[in-house]
Amino acid sequence: MKGIVFTEFLEMVEQRFSANLADDIIDDANLPSGGAYTAIGTYPHEEMVALVQALAARSGIALPDLLRTFGQHLFGRFVVAYPGFFSHPHDAFSFLSGIEVIIHAEVRKLYPDAELPHFAVESHTPQQLVLRYRSGRHFEDLAQGLIEGCLAHFGGGITLHREQVDAGPGRSERFTLTRQAA
Ligand code: HEM
Repeated sequence: MKGIVFTEFLEMVEQRFSANLADDIIDDANLPSGGAYTAIGTYPHEEMVALVQALAARSGIALPDLLRTFGQHLFGRFVVAYPGFFSHPHDAFSFLSGIEVIIHAEVRKLYPDAELPHFAVESHTPQQLVLRYRSGRHFEDLAQGLIEGCLAHFGGGITLHREQVDAGPGRSERFTLTRQAA
């Protein structure tokens, strides 16, 4: 997993909790890297899981809630760090329907070693967008937070519904976004 995800996570912990707590969870998580992340480095995604578990243990906040909150935060940081993706006028549907073929495709060019999820557009009408998320890393809670961050960014009265498709290791997640009648 790219270092930017780790540096932004620790930044969020410092902002919302404290710098001491960020140091504590790095100690608790027993990280092979030692927790000295650089934005352009690449680290095992298991270290992210260990850090979020350590934060859940110390804060008493459930792990899925922390990953969602982090996803919301991360989207806001992507807006600042990658202005090129936001230079064309977009709404949430046009942005999110291009996650796979535009956004993450560009991310893959920037970072050939990025481990990206698979997002399929199952259907796309002016009223509704249905996305299916698949990843061997199972960051569906992070995905939900990123989508929520995107909806907050673009605005526009859109509701999000999430459902699990299949169980077990082949699990995937369907996100249905529906535009509310004006
Ligand atoms: C400008 C917008 C975005 C940029 C620049 C971006 C970039 C990235 C980067 C750099 C990673 C880390 C790859 C790695 O760890 O090797 C990542 C992972 C991920 N991205 Fe995006 N992303 C963006 C928007 C989104 C949005 C809106 C979603 C949700 C629909 C999303 C879903 C994910 C998920 C869930 C992962 C974690 C990896 C996994 O699930 O396997 N991203 N993205």
